[in-house]
Amino acid sequence: MLNNKKALSAVVLAASVVISGFNGLSAKADETVTTTNWTREQASKIELNQDNTLPYTDISELEKFAPGYHVWDSWPLTDRDGNIASIKGWKVLFALSAPDDVLPGKVHDIATIRYFYSKNGKDWTLGGTLFPEGASLGSREWAGSAMMDDGKIHAFYTATGQRGEAPLTFEQRLAMATGDIVADSEGVRFENWGDHKIILEPDGEHYQTKEQAQQGEGGGYAFRDPMWFKDPKTEKEYILFEGNSGGAVGERTFKQEYAGRTNYTDENPVPAGAVHANANIGIAEVVDGNPSNLKMLPPLLEANYVNEELERPHVIVKDKKYYLFTDSHINKYAEGLQGPEGLYGFVSDTLTGGYEPLNGSGLVMANPPENPYQAYSWLVLPNLNVVGFAHFGDLGNMSIGDVGNQDPEFQFSHFGGTLAPTVKISINGSTTKIEKEFSQGWIKQ
Ligand code: FRU
Repeated sequence: MLNNKKALSAVVLAASVVISGFNGLSAKADETVTTTNWTREQASKIELNQDNTLPYTDISELEKFAPGYHVWDSWPLTDRDGNIASIKGWKVLFALSAPDDVLPGKVHDIATIRYFYSKNGKDWTLGGTLFPEGASLGSREWAGSAMMDDGKIHAFYTATGQRGEAPLTFEQRLAMATGDIVADSEGVRFENWGDHKIILEPDGEHYQTKEQAQQGEGGGYAFRDPMWFKDPKTEKEYILFEGNSGGAVGERTFKQEYAGRTNYTDENPVPAGAVHANANIGIAEVVDGNPSNLKMLPPLLEANYVNEELERPHVIVKDKKYYLFTDSHINKYAEGLQGPEGLYGFVSDTLTGGYEPLNGSGLVMANPPENPYQAYSWLVLPNLNVVGFAHFGDLGNMSIGDVGNQDPEFQFSHFGGTLAPTVKISINGSTTKIEKEFSQGWIKQ
C-alpha cells in the first residue's frame, strides 16, 4: 500500500517559532448559534441494524499503512471549499503517527503528524513529518485538518501539552501554521513554514477549561481536533472542534431539554452520575478571511448528561442540508445510556442550529458487536466515503481498558494502527445507509 521507494525526505527551510497573540478569548461570543441538544431520549433509540453496522474486519490481515509506524486519525488536504485537493495530480493525506514499537496505549503521548501523497488515492508514499522537528506547539500533535489556498497550506492541529513539559499534561489548544506547498513529478513537500500560532483556547463559559475539568471529582476534558469548514451558502468560514460544556461539574445543573420529553424522563429517570457527561461540538468563525483570526461562538451541539466525547466534528453539505458528523466511544456514554464505537450525525437546514439526529438516534455507523473496537475516528469526505483507522481487533469479551494490562505481544497483535477499509455511505434526507467497503485508506475522487 505504501510506496516507500519514492519516499522523499522533507526538505524544510528553517521555521522560526513564536507564540503570537490569539484573539479567541477576547472575542465576545456571538449569539447567532442556537445550540442543539442531543438528548437522552434520542440517544436511547440507538440500535444496531444492517444499515449502520460495519462488516467484520480481520485486523490481522490488514497491511500496515506506513511501515515502521502506527497511524490512526487521518485527514486529506482540501481546498478552501473543502474539496479534496489535487496538486499536480497528487492527493495528500495526513495522519497521526508514532513508531510501531510504541505500545498502543502510549501512542497519544508522542503523536506526530506525518503526510503521504498519492496519484491514485490508493498507493501512498510517506513524505515525512508535516512540520520540522521541534516546530509545533505543545508536547505532541493531535488531530486537525489542512486546507490549501494559493499555493499555501494552512495546517490546523491540536497542540496538546506544552513543549518540553514533564510530566505530560493534557492541556489542549487549537493551533495552526502556514507553509508553501511544493509539488513536482517526484511528490509533494512543505517548506517555508511561518510562525506556529495558538488560534483558540477554551473560554470557561461555552467551553470547559482544563482547570474546570479537574475540579471536584474531575472528568473528561477536550478542546481539540480543529476542522476547517466553509459554508457554501453564506461563504463564511469556520473552524469546528471538539469541546466540553463550560464550567466545573459541581456547577452543572440538569435541564429537562438535555433529556427529552417529560414522558420519557418519567419512565427513564436520569441517574445522578450522568452529570459527568458534557461533550460539545464547538465552532469559531474566521474573521476577515484570516484563518488564524477566530471569533469563538457558542457550541453547535451539546450532549450534556448524554455523552462525554464528541470527537473530530465535521460538516458535509448535501442537497442544501448541513450534515454534522462526529465520533464517539462505548465508554463515553452517560450513566444509563449505551452506544457503540461509532460515527454519529445530525442534519439541519442551517449551519448554526436546528439539528436533528440522523436515523432518529444519531447513529450512522457502528462496529459489529463481535468486534466492537475494530475501527474508529471516522471522517466523512464530500463524496460520502468515510475514512477511519483500524483500532483493536478480536478482543473477545475484554474491555478496551484491559488491553493495557496484557503483555506487549498481545497488545501489538490486536492493534491495527493502520487505516481501515474506506466505507461508502449514502444519505437520504435524515436517514443513512452503509453501502460498501473499499480498500484500506482509499481516497477516491
Ligand atoms: C480520536 C482522538 C482525537 C485526538 C487523537 C489523539 O481518535 O481522540 O480526538 O485528536 O485521537 O491521538
